Amino acid sequence: MIEQKLANGDSIPSIGLGTWKSEPGEVGAAVREALRIGYRHVDCARIYMNEPEIGAALTAEFSEGQVRREDVWITSKLWNDSHEAERVRPALESTLRDLQLEQLDLYLIHWPVASRHDVLIPERGDEFLTPEQAPLTETWAALEDCVRAGLCRHIGVSNFTPKKIEAMTRNASIQPSMCQVEMHPYLPQDDLLAWCKQNGIAVTAYSPLGSPDRPERVRRASDPSLLEHDVVRSIAERHNVVAAQVLIRWAIERETVVIPKSTNPTRLAQNLAAADLELTPDDMAQMREIEGPYRFVYGAFWELEGGPYTVDWLWND
Ligand code: A2P
Repeated sequence: MIEQKLANGDSIPSIGLGTWKSEPGEVGAAVREALRIGYRHVDCARIYMNEPEIGAALTAEFSEGQVRREDVWITSKLWNDSHEAERVRPALESTLRDLQLEQLDLYLIHWPVASRHDVLIPERGDEFLTPEQAPLTETWAALEDCVRAGLCRHIGVSNFTPKKIEAMTRNASIQPSMCQVEMHPYLPQDDLLAWCKQNGIAVTAYSPLGSPDRPERVRRASDPSLLEHDVVRSIAERHNVVAAQVLIRWAIERETVVIPKSTNPTRLAQNLAAADLELTPDDMAQMREIEGPYRFVYGAFWELEGGPYTVDWLWND
């Protein structure tokens, strides 16, 4: 099992199972199959609406004795409607109940965007909270308290820029262990990756396959297909592997963690086996030439008339 080292010396398995878009009714079986074939890292979130089924699957596997809790890295994420300081710990405790765990390995702020409590996806601008109403510094301080209380071992962020991380943690006592962002050859984010490395923050690449099953609201007519890109396909053919394996190994070559999603046993096995693929410097150079940048999870759903957030603020500060 390939691992990445975190700043404090802990290790996180480089390939994790993504569970965004894994349907209830399918995700439990996928988690159990993944653990049986050797996955030791599951990436979850409250908003994926499938944590109770994942919790049942984890408990079943742990109680059958093949896999121990302490051998599996489990991440979850704080949703936007619980950024206010007093809501952070209850949100984490709720996720722990759903996942049937006593402690998470990693808890991330899912987006740097806040909404009113119980408004999961705002449909009107006034359903958001402004950065002043829900300061990220206070959300972070509440997360630090969760670490001190033993509810999670590490904390971090998702969909943040270096500038937002810096502003949030300037006076923090615990630094983020992880920054999880969309990352693949169409969106390599070299500057963000270099900044994170310099600052001792590990990076997780989400949507590493270009997220072909993303929902309608995150889809644009012009979206290209990463799995069908000629360069990716020709490298895959040369190595006698499938395109997804090339994309997963690309992420590992760059020393990031990567969380491909699948609920299909064949593809779960393919994705884990990507760890054994050996890409050449020439393969990596060819993938560097892939046109971009192209962001699939664009964040347009956070830009509503009269609301405080824009796509430009999200990615370009
Ligand atoms: P499925 O779950 O049916 O296997 P991402 O991780 O970028 O979000 O992409 C997930 C999408 O990629 C899902 O549609 C998933 O389908 C598909 N996928 C996962 N693994 C593979 C693979 N090895 N080959 C082809 N498609 C894959």
